[in-house]
Amino acid sequence: VITVGVELGERRYDVLVGEGARAELAAVVADAVGPAVRRAHVVTQAEVEAAGWLEGLDPGVPYTVTLVPDGEGSKSFAAAEALCRAFAAAGLARSDVVVAVGGGVVTDVAGFAAAVYHRGTPYVNVATSLLAQVDAAVGGKTGVNLPEGKNLAGAFWQPAAVLCDTATLGTLPSREWACGRGEMAKYAFLGPGEPSAALLALPLAEQVARCVAIKAAVVSADEREGGRRMVLNYGHTLAHALEAAAFPVAGAAPRWDLRHGEAVAIGLVFAALLARRLDRIDDERVELHRRVVAGFDLGAELPVGASADELLAYMARDKKAHHDLTFVLDGPGGVEPVGGVDEGDVMATLAQMGAGG
Ligand SMILES: NC(=O)c1ccc[n+]([C@@H]2O[C@H](COP(=O)([O-])OP(=O)(O)OC[C@H]3O[C@@H](n4cnc5c(N)ncnc54)[C@H](O)[C@@H]3O)[C@@H](O)[C@H]2O)c1
Repeated sequence: VITVGVELGERRYDVLVGEGARAELAAVVADAVGPAVRRAHVVTQAEVEAAGWLEGLDPGVPYTVTLVPDGEGSKSFAAAEALCRAFAAAGLARSDVVVAVGGGVVTDVAGFAAAVYHRGTPYVNVATSLLAQVDAAVGGKTGVNLPEGKNLAGAFWQPAAVLCDTATLGTLPSREWACGRGEMAKYAFLGPGEPSAALLALPLAEQVARCVAIKAAVVSADEREGGRRMVLNYGHTLAHALEAAAFPVAGAAPRWDLRHGEAVAIGLVFAALLARRLDRIDDERVELHRRVVAGFDLGAELPVGASADELLAYMARDKKAHHDLTFVLDGPGGVEPVGGVDEGDVMATLAQMGAGG
């Protein structure tokens, strides 16, 4: 098992990565949550339980379990309230622990419920999707969606520990692997050294651990997204717009079928083309983005029917854009937030990628 520290002073914690890492749960609960812990409450999903990942899971103290339904719908205030009520019914105290076992949906909503229950109860993430292991479970951003937008409400609440058991990925559907690889492609541009997809040649635990280490370094430098942490949104401004535009009418069939990480891959190539247009990078660097994204076995084409006007409107609404269009862009000094981007350049880049008007 590889240990990566997320250095945040008194809120520091370890991320344990490797085959069988979930067997460390009792030890991390005892060590990171403390001797006063008497109970645990596990939050997970039927899919994760059916895959067998609750079998043998041992927090080292008696525990109760709540299942949340699959999908983004579980990231809601109603779901967080239901969790808090389940914690109360189980008699969970502030010195006890919430254990989130699942992908990013579970770790986001369980982490948020833990953040508000008793004004902050410890939680441990047992991340079971590639995306959660390399990204969502680490860094302390917890939250829920609102009908007005994704992740619009939440809290910074760091876990006491994170377990990334790579064995759990054995049952992950292939689309979910692609989704995680989108975030890995992002890290290729945020880490040390020349961006590449060479990471994929390493043993799986090392792949995950390297991504976690990159995220940990960014989070340690800027826990609450005052600046540097924005780089973790590389490729995400267009990705969020593509995700929002897929569902113009709540409850209707989506206009295209893109998982988050797949949208990020398209967003990375878009960001490179936009940076090229702004003369921040050269053609070769754009090609490098294309090669890395392809190396992670991801596409970079906009979905058919995507309209530049519509995508621009969603991007302008992105909560990361404060008053003008802000993008995270590559440049001579590496990837950084860039404000005041001209709408015309954004529209021209979308058109270059084949977007309709
Ligand atoms: N907090 C953060 O910093 C952060 C960062 C990135 C993403 N996120 C959030 O993460 C969420 C997406 O997470 P996700 O991609 O993990 O999706 P998810 O949690 O919906 O999981 C994807 C699917 O895989 C299933 N699953 C998970 N682990 C499995 C396993 N081991 N075997 C079989 N099936 C398994 C789940 O039940 C689900 O159906 C989004 O809501 C996003 O906003 C948060």
